[in-house]
Amino acid sequence: MATFADIQKIFEDAVGDARLPTHGRFWQTTRDQFVDIKMFDQCPIIVKWSGKDSPLVQILRADIDCFGEAYPKMPEGLADIPEDKIAIISQWIDDKAPE
Ligand code: HEM
Repeated sequence: MATFADIQKIFEDAVGDARLPTHGRFWQTTRDQFVDIKMFDQCPIIVKWSGKDSPLVQILRADIDCFGEAYPKMPEGLADIPEDKIAIISQWIDDKAPE
C-alpha cells in the first residue's frame, strides 16, 4: 500500500526544481494537515475517502471546476503525471491516506 511519503515523491518527481510561486510545494507538510488542505482557502483537495471524486486527482487528468472556480490541469507548464502514478494517488485516498 502506498504511504504519504510515496505520494510526496510523485509530486516532487513531477515538479523537479521548478519554482511554484502560485501555491508552493503544498504537499510538504504532515499527512494530517495535507488531507484537510483547502487550496486558496476554497477548494478542498481531498474528498474523504474517494480518489475519483477528489480535486487533487481530477486536476492531474484535466481542467477542473472546484466550488465555482476553474483551474487548469496540473502540473501547469510541466509534463503530465503518468496515469499509473495518478492511479496510485487515487488508491491512496480510497485507502484513507495511510501515513
Ligand atoms: C487541487 C489541487 C491544485 C490546484 C487547485 C492548483 C491550482 C493552481 C493554479 C490556480 C495555478 C496557477 C495557474 C496559472 O497561473 O495559470 C497553479 C500553478 C501550478 N501548479 Fe497547481 N494546483 C493544484 C495541484 C498541483 C499539483 C499536485 C502540482 C504538482 C504536481 C501542481 C503544480 C503546479 C505548477 C508546476 C504550476 C505552475 C507554476 C506556478 O504558477 O506556481 N499543482 N496551480
